[in-house]
Amino acid sequence: MSFNIIGTGSAYPESSKTNDELSLRIATSDEWISTRTGIKSRHIITDGSLSDLAAEAAARALKDSGTLAQDLDLIICATVRGDTLTPSLACLVQKKLAATCPAFDVNAACTGFIYALDVALGYLARNKAKKILVVAAEAMSKLVDWNDRSTCVLFGDGAGAVVLSQGDGLLSIKISASGDENLLRIDSAAGNCPFSEDSPVNPYLQMNGKEVYKFAVAAMCGDLAEMIQEAGLTQEDIDFVLPHQANLRIIETAKGKLGISAEKYRSNIEHFGNTSSASIPILLDELNRAGEFKKGQVLALTAFGGGLTTGACVIKWTKETKSKGNDKNDI
Ligand code: ACO
Repeated sequence: MSFNIIGTGSAYPESSKTNDELSLRIATSDEWISTRTGIKSRHIITDGSLSDLAAEAAARALKDSGTLAQDLDLIICATVRGDTLTPSLACLVQKKLAATCPAFDVNAACTGFIYALDVALGYLARNKAKKILVVAAEAMSKLVDWNDRSTCVLFGDGAGAVVLSQGDGLLSIKISASGDENLLRIDSAAGNCPFSEDSPVNPYLQMNGKEVYKFAVAAMCGDLAEMIQEAGLTQEDIDFVLPHQANLRIIETAKGKLGISAEKYRSNIEHFGNTSSASIPILLDELNRAGEFKKGQVLALTAFGGGLTTGACVIKWTKETKSKGNDKNDI
């Protein structure tokens, strides 16, 4: 037994900032950002909290699945950092939904959604849960240094969610980690303990973009090929590839190597930037609501990120197809 995705939802801040708007504040240009990344604009939280967004995405996924919050057995949130270190983001979402089940966070940076799916699989497979809500939500705008043009232009804020039930839709899944604090890191704030000699830290995201780029392409290609094979399928059997939305050029490079037809790849990075762990479930929800998926079609998901972490899975779509363009993302 594995799981079926029975509902999807997403939410993002109303406020959207274009590349041109960023270029009024830092030395950059629409031309540099779009040609190197494919990003044109990103949503940024200007008021409200990340847990509000996460709860909104969750409520939409619950509605799409026809599940009541009270019937959930577990809530798992993927996030780099929620509104508070404790309570966890998952506990804040649980409260906002008036759910009563256990709730906890998973932090695997941009790979967090796939990690959370794998954790959920464990609970469903050993019959500890029948319905699980997985929410990935990130406020990357609060984690980047807005004076560092090489990173702040890349990221955006948002939340995506799925409701999982016991089923046979998940065909294969893998997660991996190779600990490395040099290529991508966000330091915790230094404490003020009078007995230690902590030096001040840079609290913002630091990244070696070129090295992460190489790592990302290799991870996408290796993990996807492995998971397709483990599912007993070939590249031709895949109907959709939903890659982590970090950089369109990473996706384009991987496309050339993987042998899956180019038209099967989906992307929305143009209007979202990199929303870290939320990027895949936001894209998934967008496609579900647009009526793109047909029952029985096969989706391949792949992600990489800080840690360094990677993850990929192959999922058979088991929901009835929505009528195209008819389903608004309302609660
Ligand atoms: N606007 C204008 N110029 C810029 C900007 C900017 N926003 N940022 C950097 N530059 C300049 C640099 O200063 C450099 O100038 P120089 O040649 O005079 O020194 C030049 O542009 C080239 O910079 P590079 O860093 O070499 O640019 P590159 O082509 O490698 O692209 C990028 C950078 C887009 C970050 C790319 O390396 C990349 O996408 N890497 C992967 C990043 C990624 O996927 N991150 C997500 C990780 S997931 C997670 O867990 C967070």
